[in-house]
Amino acid sequence: MSRSAHPAGPRHADVMTEGHYSAPAADLNVLDEKVWARTVTRDGDGALTVGGIAVARLAEEFGTPAYFLDESDFRARCRAWADAFGPDADVFYAGKAFLSRAVVRWLQEEGLNLDVCSGGELTTALDAGMPAERIAFHGNNKTVAEIERAVEAGVGRIVLDSFQEIVRVAHIARSHGVRQRVQIRVTVGVEAHTHEFIATAHEDQKFGIALADGQAAEAVRRTLALDSLELIGIHSHIGSQIFDMAGFEVSARRVVQLLAEVRDEHGVELPEIDLGGGLGIAYTSEDDPREPHDIAKALSDIVTRECESAKLRTPRISVEPGRAIVGPTAFTLYEVGTIKPLEGLRTYVSVDGGMSDNIRTALYDAEYSVALVSRTSEAEPMLVRVVGKHCESGDIVVKDAFLPADLAPGDLIAVPATGAYCRSMASNYNHALRPPVVAVRDGEARVIVRRETEEDLLRLDVG
Ligand code: LLP
Repeated sequence: MSRSAHPAGPRHADVMTEGHYSAPAADLNVLDEKVWARTVTRDGDGALTVGGIAVARLAEEFGTPAYFLDESDFRARCRAWADAFGPDADVFYAGKAFLSRAVVRWLQEEGLNLDVCSGGELTTALDAGMPAERIAFHGNNKTVAEIERAVEAGVGRIVLDSFQEIVRVAHIARSHGVRQRVQIRVTVGVEAHTHEFIATAHEDQKFGIALADGQAAEAVRRTLALDSLELIGIHSHIGSQIFDMAGFEVSARRVVQLLAEVRDEHGVELPEIDLGGGLGIAYTSEDDPREPHDIAKALSDIVTRECESAKLRTPRISVEPGRAIVGPTAFTLYEVGTIKPLEGLRTYVSVDGGMSDNIRTALYDAEYSVALVSRTSEAEPMLVRVVGKHCESGDIVVKDAFLPADLAPGDLIAVPATGAYCRSMASNYNHALRPPVVAVRDGEARVIVRRETEEDLLRLDVG
């Protein structure tokens, strides 16, 4: 079970004795570099800076709440993944984690490909100039209109997710006079060690076609029989926020077994396998993510070994990291509004955002860290729960954490590792205005997704 996605108990179990929390061992002023973007540090006055800019200036210029994304960290992570997998593999950034036109341009400049899973993501990718052949199109229920757009644009691959979709994509490709490159998404029957809602390779869920009962082999049979489809490989994505490589190894082994069966039955060696995304990141000091290099080596070793024993040519590997690239690169900056000490329990610290900018705590019981960032403090640590301003008691941003006891309204606090699945899952609940994403690099900050305005809300409301 992932410690971040689905904790077994209070995160500070180590500091909890007989129902009482005692002070954390770590100095609250020290930023754990594991959970913060690479250029984050404290300046001489104790204020947090990112890309060389202090948060007070950022708050003044862009307001709060806001996501600040360390562009050089994002680019460095792209390069680390591309270098780790090398020229014989492809890295597809999973756009669902966070996508904008600037991100698409960075991906192109750093040599990555892009996985999209909706018409909206496809439009963003194409609009920002991503070459269609570098796009993979995913989804368990792509609409006919989406498939048509993807085929017309000439996407490099469509990942087929059901028997109906095999026929649907074949039909659309034929009517466009195209031979569409496709992969088949299989479910390998692995129980990924993560939260139930983000595990995707066990059999009782909606994605993919099961290897069990020969379903996937049948999907291969049907796909190979259709002239308008070019089957280039098999795809498996086992889940998200996973630290343990064992699930990926089982997945790789089972996918290679299927390739061997396909070779035996059809005399065809499929040239590619895609092992999906899902690599975990550090949300708290207790998480220990692996480096891309280790991941690449583990995956390519297992694929090479399995292929040797099945006497198959080693296929080209692709992977689809989303969170592992963008997650650690951003933090959310909030202003403290009210502070409510509940005697004998904890102190509730309310910020100017909440579940509308980070639904992950409410949805997956996810864990986050938090720090006072507008200044340092020598005050005693106090146990807090950071909550939002929504009309919902489950509106929790950080469930259990320590902040200095002299915390006051107006202080800025920041939650790190919010680059993935926060802005992309943000909502307008209570007519909240979704916060901007500001890219910071080398002393310059620029808005890449602007803050929503009340006019935006009213523009949609046409009644
Ligand atoms: N490839 C496929 C086919 C996927 O479905 C996903 C994520 C990825 C790649 C990227 O996974 P990553 O490397 O980012 O873990 N909203 C959830 C995560 C849902 C992930 C859905 N699919 C969360 O906030 O944890």
